[in-house]
Amino acid sequence: MTLPPGFLDEIRNRVPISRVIGKKVVWDLRKSNQARGDWWAPCPFHQEKSASFHCDDQKGYYYCFGCQAKGDAIRFLREADGMEFIEAVTLLAAEAGLQMPQPDPRARERSDRRTRLLDVTEAACRWFRLQLQTGAAAEARDYLARRGLDADALERFEIGFAPDSRTALTAALRDKGFNETLIVESGMAVKPDGGGAAYDRFRGRIIFPIRDGQGRCIGFGGRAMDPDARAKYLNSPETPLFDKGRNLYNLGPARAAIAKGQRLVVAEGYMDVIALARAGFEGAVAPLGTAITEDQLRLMWRISPEPVIALDGDAAGQRAARRLIDLALPITGPGQALRFVVLPAGQDPDDLIKAAGPAAMGALLDGARPLVDLLWSRETEGQVFDSPERKAALDKRLKDAIARIPDDLTRNHYAEELRRKRWDLFGGSSRRGETRADRRKPVRQNGTQVPRSPLPVPAAMDPQAAAALLEGASLLICALHPDLVPQVETRLERLTPQDPDRAALLFDLLSHTESASGRRGLETLRVDPNLVPMQIADKTSLAAAADLREALDRLEARTISEREIWRAENEITGEADEGLTWRFRQTGQVRHRIERFEDDDTKDLDEDHGALSDQLSQFLNGQVWRKPPRR
Ligand code: UTP
Ligand code: MN
Repeated sequence: MTLPPGFLDEIRNRVPISRVIGKKVVWDLRKSNQARGDWWAPCPFHQEKSASFHCDDQKGYYYCFGCQAKGDAIRFLREADGMEFIEAVTLLAAEAGLQMPQPDPRARERSDRRTRLLDVTEAACRWFRLQLQTGAAAEARDYLARRGLDADALERFEIGFAPDSRTALTAALRDKGFNETLIVESGMAVKPDGGGAAYDRFRGRIIFPIRDGQGRCIGFGGRAMDPDARAKYLNSPETPLFDKGRNLYNLGPARAAIAKGQRLVVAEGYMDVIALARAGFEGAVAPLGTAITEDQLRLMWRISPEPVIALDGDAAGQRAARRLIDLALPITGPGQALRFVVLPAGQDPDDLIKAAGPAAMGALLDGARPLVDLLWSRETEGQVFDSPERKAALDKRLKDAIARIPDDLTRNHYAEELRRKRWDLFGGSSRRGETRADRRKPVRQNGTQVPRSPLPVPAAMDPQAAAALLEGASLLICALHPDLVPQVETRLERLTPQDPDRAALLFDLLSHTESASGRRGLETLRVDPNLVPMQIADKTSLAAAADLREALDRLEARTISEREIWRAENEITGEADEGLTWRFRQTGQVRHRIERFEDDDTKDLDEDHGALSDQLSQFLNGQVWRKPPRR
């Protein structure tokens, strides 16, 4: 629709912007000057307690000093209420008492067409739901029950069933008066290339209706029940209604939940969203069978400044997460951030919630890592930086990556954070060259703080024995949970056990990570779970993973500390440069880190704890590492 010249200005003159915005925010009346049309409020686009969001009735603009959100009344309605441009104009025109211009006939036709198509998809949605009640759907109902979906969930997500028929839906829709062309255009039926009658697109599948932000049914996802089906999921094709790259599954309910203070969680699939929402994470959405697009990122940011990406813990999910980095960097900035959750290998949110419960999912979401951490892991994980060329290559990659961030402040903070991580990894541009410790210093795979776990290292223990104990505990946990090895592979590679049995075990663990189950490593070792101290043997894989990371963290903190303290003391006579200042701060931090660990240990140190430590030491020094004799 074309608007007559001056129409928008007329709206702006007639409707004070504060009247539009005032429906969404609570003005800070002490800070505002109402007479002058000068208003302040806590920003509706980012979380804050103070009032840094400003709007000016004279100018007709808003601006947030916190997150830099800005625009006019139309922009506000689009961003805050998710309206389309024309919807916002229509609403404002009504408020201004202005007659909307008549749409040109072609635009009207298009919108009539969309309305007709929506009639088809809504009719199909109702039909699919009814089919789920029929005798033909017994198997489907069983399947859904097996996957833990009760009547409530089926209702809430409007889950339906497409019977295994080529004509049932198309016939039902024709009975309702829709013609074949319209049915095909809606995506519900397929017209064979060579001619012939159109046939049902979805056959023998569980149906997930997909609604847009306004609650209109724009398409469907269909899951095969037969594990041998050619495609596990089949989605509606692109239609005038269904633009896969610009919509998200569960967007409407998620937006409502986020307005109530929930976080936006982005999962990979429909079942994940359903599991998340049912577990209480109602701000869950998913893309629609394609990789996340830039449009989808912008859509997410319109409802939350910091979506949490929770992709599957399989290779594909992790690849997708890494691709997202490249997509997000050129558009990230204040109020447009991302966080990432790394799910345990082979699990998606649905699996995790089933296996470990909502609390475990919540803990993972709480520990979500910022984009900068993922960028760092992507560029460093599994690599050894033992030459100037390799270091320079890393520097170049990082430099290129941050150069793509448009916002100055954000870019500077990335640079600073990456400098810090880089320093952690291989120190400043030391003139003394590399030490052995440099090359052994592992790249931390996971920057998140793990929950404290009762790894028994008494404060009074001498440093070498403590390191040996931590090393032993790490190896033991890996032997008991070989599936954890791939996650910490690069960190394990840096261990240098002095004890030959431990070295043999380490070699076994590392050389068997490629076997499909990761279990072969375990079979070659004589680890009798009955002999393992209960506190370690009784762990779930998730808790063991936390213990393992903690053991490695502590072990690494010690290694860094030795090296840094040595360096700082040796260079104290040199000229004070940026690197040196860094080094000192670093040394302080590392000391602090160790002290904090040991402090906690002292606090925890009761008799049981000491006894466990002894028990573990004995165990580690015993027979456990010996390989059984060859048969
Ligand atoms: P997944 O294979 O991870 O499925 O695909 P899932 O969500 O865990 O589903 P269940 O638990 O096996 O039922 C994630 C998403 O990728 C799209 C779908 O949108 C799915 O929800 N997908 C997957 C397809 O579009 N086609 C496929 O063949 C597979
Ligand atoms: Mn799944």
